Amino acid sequence: MEPSGRGRRVVLVPYPFQGHLTPMLQLGALLHCRGFSITLAHTRFNSPNSSHYPHFHFLPLSDDLDGVDTSFHNLLNVMAAMNANCQPSFQEHMVHMLETEDVACVIYDNILTFVDVVATSLNLPTILLRTTAAAYMHSHLVLFHLIAHKRLPLPESEVELPVPNLHPLRFKDLPVQATQKLPEPVRQFLLSYMNIRSSAAVIWNTIETLDQWPLQQLQQQWPVPFFTIGPLHKMAPPLPTSLMEEDAFCLSWLDKRPPDSVIYVSLGSMATINQEELRQMARGLAKSGHPFLWVVRPSLLNGSSDSIKSLPADFKDLVPERGLVVGWAPQRKVLEHPAVGGFFSHCGWNSTLESLCGGVPMICRPCFADQMVNARYLTHVWRVGVELESVGEKSVEGAVRTLMGSDCGRGMRERAVGMKLEIERSMGRGGSSSESLHHLVKFVASL
Ligand code: UDX
Repeated sequence: MEPSGRGRRVVLVPYPFQGHLTPMLQLGALLHCRGFSITLAHTRFNSPNSSHYPHFHFLPLSDDLDGVDTSFHNLLNVMAAMNANCQPSFQEHMVHMLETEDVACVIYDNILTFVDVVATSLNLPTILLRTTAAAYMHSHLVLFHLIAHKRLPLPESEVELPVPNLHPLRFKDLPVQATQKLPEPVRQFLLSYMNIRSSAAVIWNTIETLDQWPLQQLQQQWPVPFFTIGPLHKMAPPLPTSLMEEDAFCLSWLDKRPPDSVIYVSLGSMATINQEELRQMARGLAKSGHPFLWVVRPSLLNGSSDSIKSLPADFKDLVPERGLVVGWAPQRKVLEHPAVGGFFSHCGWNSTLESLCGGVPMICRPCFADQMVNARYLTHVWRVGVELESVGEKSVEGAVRTLMGSDCGRGMRERAVGMKLEIERSMGRGGSSSESLHHLVKFVASL
């Protein structure tokens, strides 16, 4: 029989950006199915639509972020502000809640350090949810080892070299620029990011067989139970998680396309490109000759709030019927649609997992942080991705043709389908993710 939370309450605290919020909501839905009561403590900034989650209880935290620049380049300040501003209201809510509720634990995103401060003061156990691959976390350990041994920073001429003992990463794939000394605020942030604080366990949105060696390395560093229960979007019941409105028309547009014919293009919720890159991407996609569905979200173009308007004037004439541009797509459904045969992606971890689960090979155009690590695994370990080093008309056109129309692309598609099956096995009876979930439920219920 499945273990049950028997109504014990679990408090979830997500970091309020799409790529982090989504897996936390999915974890909540999954734990709710296993009998736990769920409270979502959330910032007012990017607060999830509570009507989508009638089974959750919502706890708004005062974040004082009105008027703060929340774009990517200001994230260190945003995190600092959240951690300072949310702590008092979280403390107050939790004290109040503990008067009447049996709270098993608080599960939080590692960026929100204030959660640990409050939980420790109230003697509440905490568990971390890691929303990236273990390989990315492990690269931080190696980064600090390299700094301690004075291997970093290194000259520009060496960034293409492989990092010792970190196949398949090159120095340029590390989480920070290998050529520069770490600025102190970044160093402080990374040290905090690598710290599991007083957590009783770590939950990973990953699959053991895909991430085994990095998980083993991290387990030596952090001697607490690890629960690898990914991919959360497949383990949990389907639920809406988008912060932006999805354009559902693209699904009926896909219905009219042959199997594996369309390349889906999206750079996630945070990455930005400049006007020239937007132009080159548009021309490359147009020239490739393959049908495409392109997410040009309003903020994709650096500094813009309506990026679609900035597409080249002749773009529509270049691709009559063949291309569809939307502001935000129902991505998980798109990647499972039979017409989609490739994904041109920034390789965020959610996008990577969603693509692998759809058996869809990728064009990898990483922009920052974990995306470089994910891209290297996709192209050099799992061999289901074409690497795109720079965004130019010719390179985009060539990558799309390779993925969608060559033997090399067909090989990637076959391997991607193999990985989809491997992931399905991990979620099936006796599979690593389903076993790990079973242990997690018992663990949380026993806290
Ligand atoms: C961020 C980081 O950039 C990423 O590298 C990290 O792994 C998680 O946090 P983001 O850039 O948004 O996330 O990328 P990703 O992890 O891929 O998450 C994007 C989510 O938005 C996915 O779940 C995807 O399905 C969804 N999405 C994206 C849509 O629903 N519609 C879209 O049009 C585009």
